[in-house]
Amino acid sequence: MTYYAPPKIDRNAPCWCGSGRKYKSCHQHFDEKIHEFAMQGHIVPDRSIIKNERQIQGIRESAKINIAVLDEVADKIRAGMTTQQIDDIVYNTTVKMGGIPADLHYEGYPKSVCTSINDQVCHGIPSETTVLKDGDIINVDCSTILNGFFSDSSRMFCIGDVPEENRKLVEVVKECVEIGIKNVIPWHFLGDMGHAVHQHALDHGYSVVKEIGGHGCGLEFHEDPFVSYVSKPGTEMLMVPGMCFTIEPMVNMGTDEIFQDEENGWSIYTADGKPSAQWEVQVLVTEDGREVITY
Ligand code: MF3
Ligand code: CO
Repeated sequence: MTYYAPPKIDRNAPCWCGSGRKYKSCHQHFDEKIHEFAMQGHIVPDRSIIKNERQIQGIRESAKINIAVLDEVADKIRAGMTTQQIDDIVYNTTVKMGGIPADLHYEGYPKSVCTSINDQVCHGIPSETTVLKDGDIINVDCSTILNGFFSDSSRMFCIGDVPEENRKLVEVVKECVEIGIKNVIPWHFLGDMGHAVHQHALDHGYSVVKEIGGHGCGLEFHEDPFVSYVSKPGTEMLMVPGMCFTIEPMVNMGTDEIFQDEENGWSIYTADGKPSAQWEVQVLVTEDGREVITY
């Protein structure tokens, strides 16, 4: 990624962020700081991914639906249910609240939600023939559009009596996300956060998927930056106030190797057939830390 210094703005002109405030009392100091990091060779965000207060409010409203939908799934999910029934809950609850499921028709995706069971890493497609059974672990990944604003989160559910080993995986991945959240600090690097997440997974003998990660989210479904959870401290994009992205590590009990279902072109599985788990939250970088937008 190359940094092009944006044209200078008059101190009293309106700020580029669309806040309506004067540049000098809005993003002037911010731009100067970004410029310094860029000159040191760091990856810095483009203005297009910095959200203003109006946009943040829109994303928060979208997130209210996103969270409510997963709450509804949490309430209803049980052994014996098909993943299509989960899809129906997601579609109906989202639409009833005035939103649109972001997954539906996204790059040809056929359903409203992703339901990934056991060795499915992500992008499991709901189906009438997939029935949840006692002992399964499942990730339900739900994304929402409201008034053009996007929100995204996923949760794990343990169905009935889950073997201790698998339950532990689900717990540790949740801890990974919590560690990730704490490491979202303005003017630190995404690599600092990603490394902390990776380390916690490694400490438990797990591996983290490299090829698929988090993403900027809010004005579009998938925006810059790509968010890796196998990154090194001091690398990757600088985190600055107004950036909004997901923390969604996919943690495998065995190998980090994965493969894609050739028949549907979507679903990802672990190469060794061992389980994989994932939680996803969306965070906003603030002046003094972070705001958790979805959980
Ligand atoms: N919700 C997924 C994410 O966390 C993306 C799913 S795309 C779909 O980024 F098309 F598979 F739904
Ligand atoms: Co996501």
